[in-house]
Amino acid sequence: MNILVTGGAGFIGSHTVIALAEAGFTPIILDDFSNSDRRVLRGLEKILKQQPHCYAENCHSPSVLSRVFREQKIDGVIHFAAFKSVGESMQEPLKYYDNNIGSLIVLLQTMLEHDIPNLIFSSSATVYGQPNVLPVKEDTPEQPVASVYGHTKLIGEEILRDVAAAQKPLKAISLRYFNPIGAHPSAHIGELPLGVPNNLVPFITQTAAGIRPMLTVFGQDYPTPDGTCLRDYIHVMDLAEAHVAAMQYLLKQNGPTIYEVFNVGMGRGVSVLELVKTFEMVSGKPLNHRIGERRPGDVAAVYADVSKIRTQLGWSAKREVEEALRDAWRWQQCLSQH
Ligand code: WQD
Repeated sequence: MNILVTGGAGFIGSHTVIALAEAGFTPIILDDFSNSDRRVLRGLEKILKQQPHCYAENCHSPSVLSRVFREQKIDGVIHFAAFKSVGESMQEPLKYYDNNIGSLIVLLQTMLEHDIPNLIFSSSATVYGQPNVLPVKEDTPEQPVASVYGHTKLIGEEILRDVAAAQKPLKAISLRYFNPIGAHPSAHIGELPLGVPNNLVPFITQTAAGIRPMLTVFGQDYPTPDGTCLRDYIHVMDLAEAHVAAMQYLLKQNGPTIYEVFNVGMGRGVSVLELVKTFEMVSGKPLNHRIGERRPGDVAAVYADVSKIRTQLGWSAKREVEEALRDAWRWQQCLSQH
């Protein structure tokens, strides 16, 4: 079966391409490479032992999507393509609403026109804001979302809910990702942040590789056991496999309309300092770090209740944080050698 992966050259998208192929699907990538690197295709080819089918085009265009759907028999779509910088989204809100919401609308319209009902949407734990109760369940009331990026995810989910409520022939799942980290164990693909990384793990690995002088831990005065923030870090290959489980679930459903939301995480909170300590252990390198000020917009703690996805999709994370950090470090070392 052919699965179209928009944003398939990105971090989570590229790992999902591998997981789809391993599960017997044929992934077809649609990616305009505006925020990804063509080297990803070479890495995918090394792992898959063949070139993945790729359309280097923009999925915001109805004519591009129609052409892809005419040329390929597509059984389902996984929609990753979106802008994802929280900071930039506050500076350029229209760019984010136009791209992230606009492309979802065009995609849905074109899928419905071509009788393709199955869609997995990349959502984010950011829709929870700072939840009052932990771990967060899918029906935890959403708190005010802190960024335009987060709004685009929340609005995307609402669009899907509304289209399904109107009884359109749509079978859709939103996956709310917690914090994806790690890389493929082959080190042929991984995260490729542009410029100075915003996210913790790429900053750690670049610091260990000597690219950055020091990691700043953003705040040690949070109401958490060691005072640093708690997050639910999940290996990107586990997250990739959650997409496969979600697609397999949709393909088995007979009803014309389905809409479901699932958390995807490990189900436990790990602090910034615990993560630093674990990285030092798996890499055998002390990490130069200092405690700094809180980062504006950070929530103290957020981690997932994963019972819904475990029960309904039969998926749970298999890889520990140690393994994710080992894979991220191996990937960074490969990058540094090139
Ligand atoms: C993790 C923890 C920081 C950098 C963001 C987005 C979210 C999703 C994933 C998607 C926090 C601390 C970080 C550093 C630090 N985005 N930290 N020093 O903020 O949980 O989630 O990325 O596409 O929507 O909001 O992830 O990796 O930035 O931070 O101490 O140099 O690490 O304060 O506690 P976050 P993160």
